[in-house]
Amino acid sequence: MSRIVFVNGEYLPEEDATISIFDRGFVMADAVYEVVSVLDGKLIDMEGHQARLGRSLEALGIGNPMSDDDYLSMFRELVSRNEMRDGMIYLQVTRGNPGDRDFTYPPADTPQTVVAFTQSKPGLAENPAAQTGWSVITVPDQRWGRRDIKTTQLLYPSMAKMMAKEAGADDAWLVEYGKITEGTSNNAYIVKGDTIITRELSHDILHGITRAAVLRLAREAQMNVEERGFTAEEAASADEAFVTSASAFVMPVVQIDGAQIGEGKPGRIATRLREIYLDEMRKTAV
Ligand code: PDD
Repeated sequence: MSRIVFVNGEYLPEEDATISIFDRGFVMADAVYEVVSVLDGKLIDMEGHQARLGRSLEALGIGNPMSDDDYLSMFRELVSRNEMRDGMIYLQVTRGNPGDRDFTYPPADTPQTVVAFTQSKPGLAENPAAQTGWSVITVPDQRWGRRDIKTTQLLYPSMAKMMAKEAGADDAWLVEYGKITEGTSNNAYIVKGDTIITRELSHDILHGITRAAVLRLAREAQMNVEERGFTAEEAASADEAFVTSASAFVMPVVQIDGAQIGEGKPGRIATRLREIYLDEMRKTAV
């Protein structure tokens, strides 16, 4: 069955969905995006994703063409038209189509381009990888300096993912000035004793919506959280490690650069956090 996707106010079969070759998103990666998970037909942490979309657009001086209510109804419409139970919704907003290629931004009244589509992943929350955990390699972080803005400049993260695949690993952790920033498309954590350690928020990492929820839930469960950078060596000698993202939720990491982390299987705290997170998110899904 072909998907029904959303393009600039219209719901269309995916094969009929088009945007201009001059769109700033296409020629300049002048665009921001969000990925929102869907479990049992309901949207996970929609409010958090809408708030970050607003911040990303604001940081780039792109107007937000739709209200929070519009996004919510559009997402629900996509879930319903595609009869999706579990999966993700991808949303992209670009600075629009100036009608030609030009480094200068187009006039502010140029309509933004809005595209959204579903990606069905039956059993997303029961991903068997969560039982065995991921292996990661480390690679230099060669991305730009505003990683807190969720832009579609994903070439380097894709290259890093390919380096991981070629090395037989599941993902790459990016390293800058000796410390891990984050994964290719997730935030990175280690656990030492009873303390969860993850890099502090700054322009250096994406402010994960899952990260915010997981840290809040960890603190509510009386777990210790330390927000600071850590090295690959510290990760290799940690008791546990994990990553978080809207699509992987809380995913244990059991190996870094070929070295086993802890017992080489998903740790107690990562496993507990995954349960608490999924439980809470199912309850608050909209
Ligand atoms: N990626 N860091 C980076 C670089 C990311 O691309 C992502 C999300 C995260 C986690 O953010 P969140 O918890 O809000 O999903 C951290 C999405 C899932 C993607 O690109 O598919």
